[in-house]
Amino acid sequence: MNGHPGGEAHTRRMLSLAGLRPGARVLDLGAGAGETVALLRSLGYEAQGLDLEPLSPLVAWGDLLGTGLPSGSFDAVLSQCAFFVSGDVPGALAESRRLLKPGGTLLLSDVFFEPPEPLFRRAGFSLSHAEDITELWRAYYLEALWREDEICPAVRGKCAYWIVICTKEERHGPV
Ligand SMILES: C[S@@+](CC[C@H](N)C(=O)[O-])C[C@H]1O[C@@H](n2cnc3c(N)ncnc32)[C@H](O)[C@@H]1O
Repeated sequence: MNGHPGGEAHTRRMLSLAGLRPGARVLDLGAGAGETVALLRSLGYEAQGLDLEPLSPLVAWGDLLGTGLPSGSFDAVLSQCAFFVSGDVPGALAESRRLLKPGGTLLLSDVFFEPPEPLFRRAGFSLSHAEDITELWRAYYLEALWREDEICPAVRGKCAYWIVICTKEERHGPV
């Protein structure tokens, strides 16, 4: 089961907003049970996924805060509901930026405690799309509570859930 609000429909929406070319190399960070990796492959992308607790053979073990993968090796990095859970969003953004090729795209859907634009600018990305889907996330979160699923205990206070598509800025500094 998808571990993010909106499920596959929202993954497809992110891909369509990003306009990735067929065959692009895409890395899913915090890929969980691998549904998004499977979808990406079915759509013709060269996809791989990493997670601290991989739940499928489609996903390899890896820490999104330090993947050990070569710099500049992906056309796109995607992550859904995992950067916040990692406990270090700036660290996750820095590792994503390192992994991207020049001009590469980051596709994110996640919980944020601050407006995304300044956060992403500081991390060396320029935003092409930012969409607040907090209402959808609230419904998803309530359903998870109702099912007694494991939920993230760190989500407290006034936060929002955003879809963000952004591009690696070259002027920010070395990869
Ligand atoms: C809410 S689940 C989302 C899973 C998947 N992205 C999805 O949408 O179905 C969050 C995932 O992030 C993973 N995760 C948390 N911290 C991580 C880290 N530092 N490195 C890799 N994965 C991490 C967890 O193991 C979990 O599978």
